[in-house]
Amino acid sequence: MTGTIAILGGTGKQGSGLARRFARAGARVLVGSRDAQRARETVAGWPPPQPSEADPTVTRGSIEGASNAEAVAAADTVVLAVPFSSVADTLHAVGGRWRSGAVLVDVTVPLSFEGGKLTVIPVAEGSAAEHVRARLPGSIPLAGAFKTLPAHLLNDVDAAIDCDEFVCADSDASRSAAFALVRLLPGVRAIDVGPLARARAVEHLTALAVAINRRHKVHDARFRVVGL
Ligand SMILES: NC(=O)c1ccc[n+]([C@@H]2O[C@H](COP(=O)([O-])OP(=O)(O)OC[C@H]3O[C@@H](n4cnc5c(N)ncnc54)[C@H](OP(=O)(O)O)[C@@H]3O)[C@@H](O)[C@H]2O)c1
Repeated sequence: MTGTIAILGGTGKQGSGLARRFARAGARVLVGSRDAQRARETVAGWPPPQPSEADPTVTRGSIEGASNAEAVAAADTVVLAVPFSSVADTLHAVGGRWRSGAVLVDVTVPLSFEGGKLTVIPVAEGSAAEHVRARLPGSIPLAGAFKTLPAHLLNDVDAAIDCDEFVCADSDASRSAAFALVRLLPGVRAIDVGPLARARAVEHLTALAVAINRRHKVHDARFRVVGL
């Protein structure tokens, strides 16, 4: 069970694809933004969520726009989908608005595209996920997921997805919450890769996927693990 899902930075490329697909799977989704009006306008521009043709029995979900702080205050599962450089500001802005029992699923990857050059930004804590952990209230369990899922494919909401997603977590509660989100995306398999520090490897895989996209002039390079 995911309950209400808030997506901080849900107006962006990764967050909007996740929001629309989660809603289509029947979830109540709050799209968060620094500017609530911008979130509402963004959501108003999307077609209303339709049940999946593959499973017409799923309940129609809903999407609303809100400020990041309002979204957190109303959510059971929060997804952090902002640029790595704005993680600290975003978490600071939502402050102590977390619901009791809420969990955070971090999607951020410390990549820079400055001057067209792809670079993994060095992170003092070891990974973006651990950077988030250092700035999140200790009572909020944290998982990392959706770090290698391409936004381009996510936003083509009628397209099937056929890949694995790596889930790392600091607790059973956050791992379960991340698995529950992955289950909302038919065709995606969640793979438990262990503790949060495993995000160090996962985030480098995202850089590899971007490099593959560039080298092969495609948009949606992604991963599938064999042997499991
Ligand atoms: N794009 C991908 O394919 C992909 C794949 C895997 C992981 N990711 C990760 O997902 C995260 C989001 O990526 P994205 O491509 O969706 O990014 P994005 O579209 O550039 O930004 C997402 C949202 O973050 C908010 N934002 C932007 N600058 C901000 C700032 N300075 N301070 C606070 N909020 C700011 C904006 O929302 P408001 O202006 O409405 O507040 C924006 O719509 C990144 O960490 C990225 O590494 C992306």
